[in-house]
Amino acid sequence: MQAYIALTPGDGIGPEVVAQAQRMLDAVAARYGHTFRYTTHLIGGCSIDQHGTALTDEALAACQSADAVLLGAVGGPKWDDPNAAVRPEQGLLKLRKGLGVFANLRPVKVHHALLDASPIKPEVLKNVDMVVVRELTGGLYFGSPKGEDVVNGQAHAVDTMEYTESEVERVVRLAFQMAQNRKKKVTSVDKANVLATSRLWRRVTNRVAADYPDVTLEHMLVDTASMKLIASPASFDVMVTENTFGDILTDEASLLAGSMGLLPSASLGESGPGLYEPIHGSAPDIAGKGTANPIGTILSAALLLRYSLKLEVEAAALENAVEKAIHARACTPDLGGKLSTSQVADYMLEQF
Ligand code: NAI
Ligand code: MG
Repeated sequence: MQAYIALTPGDGIGPEVVAQAQRMLDAVAARYGHTFRYTTHLIGGCSIDQHGTALTDEALAACQSADAVLLGAVGGPKWDDPNAAVRPEQGLLKLRKGLGVFANLRPVKVHHALLDASPIKPEVLKNVDMVVVRELTGGLYFGSPKGEDVVNGQAHAVDTMEYTESEVERVVRLAFQMAQNRKKKVTSVDKANVLATSRLWRRVTNRVAADYPDVTLEHMLVDTASMKLIASPASFDVMVTENTFGDILTDEASLLAGSMGLLPSASLGESGPGLYEPIHGSAPDIAGKGTANPIGTILSAALLLRYSLKLEVEAAALENAVEKAIHARACTPDLGGKLSTSQVADYMLEQF
């Protein structure tokens, strides 16, 4: 097949890890007879330096016309002033909004060879293989009214958690479809004992579940879910939840795998290109040293193959290459290895 992939490497280690993921995608194209065309665009701090804005309209338009977008990370100390009018994360938000990606997927799989890399006990981590699906464009972060004012002479602030039925339905449906191709279990996380949005969420989820009789649905309160994620993480398959709960639970789940540098993510919409990126940031402390772990970005490229290009065999081949490297400890220092960022990809390419 022919596919067009827009690359937005961003700042810090972003360009270092995206370059290695691109090498792996090229290897996939060569082995399976595909043609991948790339364009590269500035996003984040580097775009602010060059254009005065964190993502230009031209760069966004290019991403919108691609089959998929592969992102590194944005930000760094140079652009850290919280009061600045132009900030690196604005590029990310503009890109997510412009692509209409409403579901953020974070698969968490604990590799056998890394059972000792997590602060959690190895016997608890065995068989962890789950996906957290976080609603990305609604809820508390976007609801109105929002802001600060003065009431009765006191500073006062308000945020609003807000969802419509269709916003809940589209993300929950995606979670059920995902579960059908996995262990056939969905855990919907809410706070239905106190929040009206959660009661709506639960009602819609129950209705959607009727369309997926082969999938088991369980509801779980968010406080219970945060405990179970540590106590019995292997009991989960697909977890789906609203934006704020998902923000917190995805970070908690990422701890299970051992290193920030390992985990990929996919952000998907109804149609149009998906956005793929590692969960880590621009890691300014190690940028330019050649020690950044490229695996999170390479696994993001595997998700790109799976979800945007529907190339399941190719996606699995890339994941298998990562698995082999981890088993051989052909890794960067964050995983106790001695290899550089590009040497990790070299190793995978030799085995590929
Ligand atoms: P970070 O994820 O960049 O780094 C946290 C720690 O993990 C650092 O010690 C770093 O060296 C290490 N680390 C991260 N990725 C690694 C990799 N691939 N290999 C080896 N070690 C890795 O988070 P931090 O330090 O809080 O933020 C740094 C900058 O990144 C900030 O400007 C922040 O705003 C931005 N950021 C951007 C994100 C994005 O673009 N989606 C997400 C999170 C942070
Ligand atoms: Mg977070």
